[in-house]
Amino acid sequence: MAETNLQVLLRRRPKGAPVPEDFEIVETKLPEPAEGEVLVRARYLSLDPYMRGRMSEAKSYAKPVELGAVMEGQTAGEVVASRAPGFTPGDTVLGGFGWQRFSCVSPARLFKIDPKEAPLSASLGVLGMPGLTAWVGLEDIGRPKAGETMVVSAASGAVGQVVGQLGKIRGCKVIGIAGGPEKCRFVTEELGFDACIDHRGDLNAQLDAACPEGIDIYWENVGGAVQAAVFPRFRDFGRMVMCGVISQYNTVEGADSFGGAPGPNLGAVVRKRLHIQGFIVSDNGWPRYPQFRREMLGHMAAGKMKWREDVVQGLRNAPTAFIGLLQGANFGKLVVQID
Ligand SMILES: NC(=O)c1ccc[n+]([C@@H]2O[C@H](COP(=O)([O-])OP(=O)(O)OC[C@H]3O[C@@H](n4cnc5c(N)ncnc54)[C@H](OP(=O)(O)O)[C@@H]3O)[C@@H](O)[C@H]2O)c1
Repeated sequence: MAETNLQVLLRRRPKGAPVPEDFEIVETKLPEPAEGEVLVRARYLSLDPYMRGRMSEAKSYAKPVELGAVMEGQTAGEVVASRAPGFTPGDTVLGGFGWQRFSCVSPARLFKIDPKEAPLSASLGVLGMPGLTAWVGLEDIGRPKAGETMVVSAASGAVGQVVGQLGKIRGCKVIGIAGGPEKCRFVTEELGFDACIDHRGDLNAQLDAACPEGIDIYWENVGGAVQAAVFPRFRDFGRMVMCGVISQYNTVEGADSFGGAPGPNLGAVVRKRLHIQGFIVSDNGWPRYPQFRREMLGHMAAGKMKWREDVVQGLRNAPTAFIGLLQGANFGKLVVQID
């Protein structure tokens, strides 16, 4: 039987939390590469929180996915056929090919990677966009110094795991925040953070106990109640790296609200001379990817950078897995193995 393509489309825009009916799964004909294009078979798809933003029409830094179009996403796979110079069948590649098994892409959107360096799925997590996000945000905004105290929310997740371990490599005391005892145990025992706070418990009491000296760097992945508890604990000249506010993504008001939590008193920004900066990895991250990858492979070889993946089998299960990501159901970097 001839091979077909499998695609996940955006059927309608979610109101609040996405549901499976917001997606449509279709089988289509295998696409044919035009002159100058490459046909890629995806082996792994990365599921990431930003995709919730692409499902919405609200104004943002990137265009929404059109209704009826393939959901946007990073994939890793191999070249099946090539009509472009520099690529041959069997090459391992990384790129934004969407929630689909096959795609025709222009070489400008392809990164060739060496499959011997690390397992393929790692190039979507620790060695991929989330890892690069951690590295760029710390280099440019967090600027950790030895002896400083760093707090990282969503610490067991794709970005958080890398942020905290890079903080440890730079000599910081690192406190994670995660949902539940199992994730907290992983963060301290496997990743080597100094402590981990369960955000389902009393945040204030746990923060008092873990960082009585205050906080120099807060890596914000979550927003809402976690942000409200961390903010008053900043020390003078603290830095808040605004990476994401996942607790707000399904709220009707969107990411510009505090999701019912009290907003921070911004007077402290003046008094404590705080630096708060948001960033998007695609602003200036990808040109630095080769340097990032080299450094990370070095940390991995030295046993200083561990990673955990949550691998879901089959593209048809991508919508449910993505819905779970926005509620903390994943444990580690969420990827789909495409059958
Ligand atoms: N600025 C950028 O360029 C950039 C790039 C990549 C990612 N990001 C942002 O970085 C953050 C983390 O992304 P990731 O890919 O590493 O995801 P992730 O941490 O692997 O997965 C998301 C985690 O967020 C936590 N979470 C989900 N819903 C929550 C809620 N309502 N309240 C509190 N915590 C909740 C859960 O962890 P717990 O169970 O531990 O709570 C969940 O496992 C997101 O905000 C994302 O948008 C930004």
